[in-house]
Amino acid sequence: MALKAVIFDLDGVIVFTDKFHYQAWKKMADQMGIYFDETINNRLRGVSRMDSLDIILERYDGEPLSQVKREELAAQKNEDYRELLKTMTPEDVTDEVRETLAEIRRRGYKIALGSSSKNARFILERVALTDAFDKISDGTNITKSKPDPEVFIKGAEFLGERPEDCLVVEDAEAGIDAGIAGGMKTAAIGDAVSCGKADFVLDTFSDLLKILI
Ligand code: BG6
Ligand code: MG
Repeated sequence: MALKAVIFDLDGVIVFTDKFHYQAWKKMADQMGIYFDETINNRLRGVSRMDSLDIILERYDGEPLSQVKREELAAQKNEDYRELLKTMTPEDVTDEVRETLAEIRRRGYKIALGSSSKNARFILERVALTDAFDKISDGTNITKSKPDPEVFIKGAEFLGERPEDCLVVEDAEAGIDAGIAGGMKTAAIGDAVSCGKADFVLDTFSDLLKILI
């Protein structure tokens, strides 16, 4: 195995924006009288904004919503979410993550982001981490979200590397599935560990330095 590059998921791996997604969706759900809790929120990991809305609307029993109304709801949620993202600062990234990313680069590996979020660049700017990535593949350059491998395939393409030479780092099962479907090696952290499908398991982010030698 000769890994040449690493493609990182963002939410749940580099930063933790779950709580902001939850607050913004919860506000919308409450306004619509839809039951929504943190367990349902967990199903939204790695899922696109519109697909997330559909999951929340599974519990909606009113008149069917038009596409225009659905887009309005998603746009309002995103506005609320971005307000919450503005509270993020460089301190929202641990020294461990920052130093590990720098060391991976020093060791000669290329680094890309592979996130379903259309807010990925905004988040990286807020936490002053844009420069840690050679390339960014995000929700703005894909049509299908994880478990489809598109976001990672594009990430590998942007880096000029073959999928099999890339390691995908993910906290969601859908993300590990996407990495496998893309023909990449996978490393699970956090919630993704329990799915048991990844090539590597990380107890902590800096464990990557034991794999990328
Ligand atoms: C992913 C999150 O990173 O981005 C999902 O895990 C989210 O929960 C998705 O739905 C899309 O995010 P955004 O920022 O484009 O609404
Ligand atoms: Mg994630």
